[in-house]
Amino acid sequence: MGDIKKVILNCDPGTDDSLCIIMGIMHPEIELLAVTAESGNLTSDKTSKNALRIMELMGCEDIPVARGMLHPLVRKHPSDPYSHGEDGLGNHFFPEPKLPLCEQHAALKIIEEVKKYPGEVTILSTAPLTNVALALMLCPELAGLVKEIWHLGGSYGVTPYAFANATGDNPVSEWNVYVDPEAAETVYSCGAKVTTIGLDVAFNPEWVNISQEVISKLKKVDSVPSRYALEIIDYVDKNNSLPDLLNNGPIDTVAMCSVICPEIIQTQNIGIMIDTSDNQLTRGMTAWDRRNHFRWDNLIRIDTACSINSELYNRVFFEAVTGLSYDEV
Ligand code: BDR
Ligand code: CA
Repeated sequence: MGDIKKVILNCDPGTDDSLCIIMGIMHPEIELLAVTAESGNLTSDKTSKNALRIMELMGCEDIPVARGMLHPLVRKHPSDPYSHGEDGLGNHFFPEPKLPLCEQHAALKIIEEVKKYPGEVTILSTAPLTNVALALMLCPELAGLVKEIWHLGGSYGVTPYAFANATGDNPVSEWNVYVDPEAAETVYSCGAKVTTIGLDVAFNPEWVNISQEVISKLKKVDSVPSRYALEIIDYVDKNNSLPDLLNNGPIDTVAMCSVICPEIIQTQNIGIMIDTSDNQLTRGMTAWDRRNHFRWDNLIRIDTACSINSELYNRVFFEAVTGLSYDEV
């Protein structure tokens, strides 16, 4: 077993986000310090309740869930074209949660936890970055205190699926950057080590699918999280599949699995600009300047995933959902 990783999960549950919460609870190498609820798929009044519902499903009462911003830094909250169901959790319609929310705002919770463990905390955001940007604005030294920041966000053009499956509400953007491009710009350029998983990889049906072997193993385990994961996989398959392609991979789980096991992805260091304009066609675009000539010198440098080991992703997915060893089931 490797070192225990201290993780703050900033998320907007969200079918795929809800699996990331479960993975953070179940995987023995992750210590989930807090879940901070973002406005993304739904606004944070709803995503925070959904996070609590997942905590209750898992019987987990000791991980704080903090509610974040109701809207992006400077924009209105847009509505999501990608379906997570009426309740945001694939139409499970769980009851009102009884667990209380953390009294602190999400941004303050992020600051508190990072300061408590300087150099040790990974911030993983599977949602827009409003809460994380706000934390950095309130406490700029945070960038030097955090271990690293991971974001399921952007579409860089590494593969055609960066744009073929664009989740933002235009042909070139990914939802988590599209919702709050100013926040993404703030976080990506803060000086911390930033790694992004774009749609290039995470919504690439040739690479990210849950295998029949994993589905059989999840059925065999037959636990609360394995049954819930099967229901979400089925929901994604039925509602978000592309014509003629199996596409059952819950997008955000690629990021959580990569935090657990970075060998899953190969990354490349690239220079990008984020479109923070009001241009309807390109807002939220993460443009990688690949030119060999006249390249801009004010680019934001990030590491981004350019390929994924599908087999390893599937193994880690199974182990993170169930907390069990792949080969022993
Ligand atoms: C992102 O958008 C949301 O719908 C998903 O939860 C994921 O975080 C993908 O663009
Ligand atoms: Ca999400």
